[in-house]
Amino acid sequence: MNERYSVARGMRDMLAVDATRMSFVEQAFITTLRQYGYEEIRLPLLEKTELFQRGVGEATDVVSKEMYIMEDRGGDSLALRPEGTASCVRAAINNSMLRGNNPRLWYVGPMYRYERPQKGRYREFTQVGAEAFGYTGPDVDTELIEVGTVVWEQLGIAEHVTLELNTLGSPASRMRFREALIDYLTPQREFLDPDSLNRLSTNPLRILDSKNERTQQIVSQGPNISDYLDSESVEFFVDLQSQLDARGIAYQCNDRLVRGLDYYTHTVFEWNTDKLGAQKQLGGGGRYDGLFEILGGEPTHAAGFAVGVDRIALLHENCEASVESDAADIYVVTPIGVFDTRLDAIMKGLRARTTLRVKRHMGGGRLKVQLRQADRSGARWALIAGDQELQKNVVGVKWLREARDQVDVSIDALAEFFEQQHD
Ligand code: HAM
Repeated sequence: MNERYSVARGMRDMLAVDATRMSFVEQAFITTLRQYGYEEIRLPLLEKTELFQRGVGEATDVVSKEMYIMEDRGGDSLALRPEGTASCVRAAINNSMLRGNNPRLWYVGPMYRYERPQKGRYREFTQVGAEAFGYTGPDVDTELIEVGTVVWEQLGIAEHVTLELNTLGSPASRMRFREALIDYLTPQREFLDPDSLNRLSTNPLRILDSKNERTQQIVSQGPNISDYLDSESVEFFVDLQSQLDARGIAYQCNDRLVRGLDYYTHTVFEWNTDKLGAQKQLGGGGRYDGLFEILGGEPTHAAGFAVGVDRIALLHENCEASVESDAADIYVVTPIGVFDTRLDAIMKGLRARTTLRVKRHMGGGRLKVQLRQADRSGARWALIAGDQELQKNVVGVKWLREARDQVDVSIDALAEFFEQQHD
């Protein structure tokens, strides 16, 4: 026998209900985003490595430690996308999408980060993202947050999701805060954990969300971003909060929230849950007014978010929220010798006139064997159309999950019959 292969570390096969749950979560976001007028954009899985180095930031963990980078046969350095925002901005610039139009876009698909895998953290995971270009805000920031809130409700998990909010202010105020933080932390550098010490020279803001207790203690006595905001940044943040209040959207302000990607200005937010252990973050986003320029475009206001579908699916499962399975509703048993086009017409009619899933038995076999397969398929009914039945212009309907007697139903009334039965 040849060698069997296991799946690569951090990658997953998702089977049956796990796959269905992923689609269900994706669809909840996609449907809601469409209802808000967001339009789909499909972006490549591979981008030039430099796009993320410039866009997301060299000093971020995502770029410095987690990217899958390859050289293609032509010698170009390409990266599997670790996130969608930089690609989305690149696409908007390349396709002149802002000419006379302010696009609001959504995307869904796999992202890749070489992280240490554990429950809720994978090397290939799925995001749904939304990005709005050309809006000064904070109306659009509020709308983006509202979309999330609507979907948590729809999925029945709202009570387990909290929203954290902060502002990083304008680039100038952020820079002043950064300097103050460096000035404060440098004399205490020997007390910082190794990761934070590293970040002091590369990405000092990230020290704020260090999990190390001692570092946290030091940081808690240090400068606070709110003291470094210019009046325009304060006004923006106050305005955002009053718009959220007006919509009844609950949030907690957290002045330590900085996010892991470098492009943010003003608004930053994260949706968290306490039901998934260490992998708390279900999604996050914010405003990134400087990214278009960094990537060679015209200065453009922008804001967006992305959610982690894998984690939301886990939470949904933990809450024991049900999803409709992909199993067929009706399993059509096909006795040998039956004039097949009649049976085909019956199935075609059912598929066209109802929303039921109609699965046809394949490969022949005795009635008993076919019925066993019908049972295993998870279908609710077996439809039996032998010569005898068809001659009488009926089919037999057998309940597979309920103790009820088989009945004959007229072929003409079959769609109505199933529609009445289906709740
Ligand atoms: P992010 O916070 O890096 O933001 O990722 C968004 C979400 O993706 C996270 O909250 C998490 O749920 C999920 N996620 C991240 N890494 C993993 C992983 N290894 N395994 C499973 N799930 C994961 C962004 O990516 C930004 N592009 C969001 C954004 C859009 N900001 C503005 N526009």
